[in-house]
Amino acid sequence: EEKITASAIANRKGKDKIVMVTATDEPTGRLVDQAGVDVVLVGDSLAMAVLGRPNTLSVTIEEMLHHIRAVAQGVRRALVVGDMPFGSFQVSVAEAVRNACRLVGEGGAEAVKLEGPRVAEIKAIVAAGVPVMGHLGLTPQSLHLLGGYRVQGKSLEQARHLLAQAQELEEAGVFALVLEGIPPSLAKAITARVGIPTIGIGAGPHCDGQVLVLADLLGLSPGLVPRFVRRYAQLDVAIRQAVAAFAGDVRSGSYPAPQECYPDPPELSAWVEG
Ligand code: KIV
Ligand code: NA
Repeated sequence: EEKITASAIANRKGKDKIVMVTATDEPTGRLVDQAGVDVVLVGDSLAMAVLGRPNTLSVTIEEMLHHIRAVAQGVRRALVVGDMPFGSFQVSVAEAVRNACRLVGEGGAEAVKLEGPRVAEIKAIVAAGVPVMGHLGLTPQSLHLLGGYRVQGKSLEQARHLLAQAQELEEAGVFALVLEGIPPSLAKAITARVGIPTIGIGAGPHCDGQVLVLADLLGLSPGLVPRFVRRYAQLDVAIRQAVAAFAGDVRSGSYPAPQECYPDPPELSAWVEG
């Protein structure tokens, strides 16, 4: 099947919905690709999903590279997008370009995503030949500035501001835009007023696509999950049951069975028994 490119995603506006999920390693990349998703995001949500951290702020460019390389090995058809971690694009345009190039050159990402209205950085990264996905609304790397994970754009003034930012990002050259944690009506307005596809998470049904964090949709994230998460499996239960069954079989002696053992050479059995 044909490789999905950033421009193919851009051209999906007004056509089929875009499906994006996160992946963190080769098996998850391979499996979500085989499931037929359009975009695989190696998101910095891996901080919580697989590294046990409280938020995304501590993720480094080296850690992102480690995961992006693994995911890129598993994905054949979907577009692989690497998330730019906190600190990797905020300091200067030059650092933003260097780090975007690392995610593509060393990591194997085919596009990068970065949070916020970073027009100069986005223009420079695109000029370097790297497709950029924008991300507006509840941007988790701004956790401390936002004062918590709160729905953004609830007042008319804030909503107008976010719409203007979305239009600036389109102008800057993003091929798609993640809208996170905003009211459905605002996501609808933005989706109608930009020519690039919007991909929503906690942003209602009117976006051109939807994204979920894989651990959330598979039932692997502990504790409370946000309202927008729909759980499609309970892999936490499945994993505990499988490992508890293995433990029981080891303790009872029923594992390994003869067919799970390499055959004993007759000479050796005779020697041991004798
Ligand atoms: O890191 C991530 O998983 C993300 C998505 C939620 C858009 O940025
Ligand atoms: Na992210």
